[in-house]
Amino acid sequence: MQIKKLTIPSSIRNFSVYFEKDFDFIEDLLQISNSVVIVGVHVYRLYRKFFKIVAPERLIVIPLEEKNKTLDTVMILYKRLLQFSAKKNLTVISFGGGTNQDVVGFVASTLYRGIQWVYVPTTLLAMADSAVGLKTSLNFLNYKNVIGTFYPPHKVYICVRFLGTLPEIEYLSGLGEITKFFLMKKDAREHFRESVEAIDTLRKKKDGETIASIIVESIQIKLSYMKGDEFDLERRNLLNYGHELGHALESVSKFHIPHGIGVLLGILFANAVSVTRQWLDKRTCMYINEKLLLPNIPVQGGFFKKNYFDADRIIDCMKQDKKRTSDGLVLVLPKENLSLCKVHDITSSEVRAGLMVLTKTVGF
Ligand SMILES: NC(=O)c1ccc[n+]([C@@H]2O[C@H](COP(=O)([O-])OP(=O)(O)OC[C@H]3O[C@@H](n4cnc5c(N)ncnc54)[C@H](O)[C@@H]3O)[C@@H](O)[C@H]2O)c1
Ligand SMILES: [Zn+2]
Repeated sequence: MQIKKLTIPSSIRNFSVYFEKDFDFIEDLLQISNSVVIVGVHVYRLYRKFFKIVAPERLIVIPLEEKNKTLDTVMILYKRLLQFSAKKNLTVISFGGGTNQDVVGFVASTLYRGIQWVYVPTTLLAMADSAVGLKTSLNFLNYKNVIGTFYPPHKVYICVRFLGTLPEIEYLSGLGEITKFFLMKKDAREHFRESVEAIDTLRKKKDGETIASIIVESIQIKLSYMKGDEFDLERRNLLNYGHELGHALESVSKFHIPHGIGVLLGILFANAVSVTRQWLDKRTCMYINEKLLLPNIPVQGGFFKKNYFDADRIIDCMKQDKKRTSDGLVLVLPKENLSLCKVHDITSSEVRAGLMVLTKTVGF
């Protein structure tokens, strides 16, 4: 049963996001003519029963984890898809998280200069963020998201029941990206208390309806930044809040740190740099740390290793940031009322100082 529909505007093509209460939409979806289903091994194993109705030759199951977000995986998919008699009229239907989206989206956008693509996000992060991002990205030489295209899916189906099998750490990763959106919402400071409540509710995985409504709100905040800057040249850049360090931590930890956890650490770091520049008051920074960031960072069980925070390696990765245009390093920083600005003059010593505050605050 469909519970909501959003229309996402794009100059490439507008597309719809359907919110489904149950899994019953899947059977119809899998019967689209000239379609091929692409799913990662892990998600396939969990949801094997849904794919039984797909003829084996129409089903591609391959490893689709962050380390597979590469041109090698893209080439495997090109080879498989070239074998179908359907060409430009081929539709790929993919099920998975942001990694699946990034890889399959890249393939869909480049094969025959673009084929149809229906995407079913299965992680919190993909539902609340990447599915409407219009982007596809690949990692290259261990650098994060340095290759990519702009290519939205033709349709997206969100069903929060998929979250029932998501490991806790991946759920927290989605929560990380959603926390970023709530910090970026209009008049964020005035809405602090509601935002803290929303994130706490989400962490407790209340009911599907509440989770879906928080996902809708996240999408709407994201769209408000993409409006008028679909191709990420100006205001949309601000969505990178927390990502400069986050991407570096993903790379240095060889992707042990999931994307959204990297973003949470990156926000904590950016806020610390703003405090040092006297752009953000310390009390606000501490409040955000205590109420929104630290509760979602998995500090127990030795999850983080000290060498992930090696300043030299982090600085090397930050130098590869594709949004960098000058000698200085790039960072999106919050100012007094939490409005964000992008700066290009971050020095290596600011990064080192920020990392010291980060590791001390989180207690690594
Ligand atoms: N294109 C964009 O606009 C955009 C935006 C944000 C993030 N991203 C990218 O998305 C990626 C992160 O996406 P993600 O957090 O969804 O991670 P992911 O796709 O790597 O999935 C995380 C893990 O969860 C597993 N998984 C997926 N669905 C599951 C389910 N329902 N139950 C159990 N396990 C499941 C996967 O197999 C994987 O092991 C990053 O590479 C990031 O760069 C892209
Ligand atoms: Zn992100």
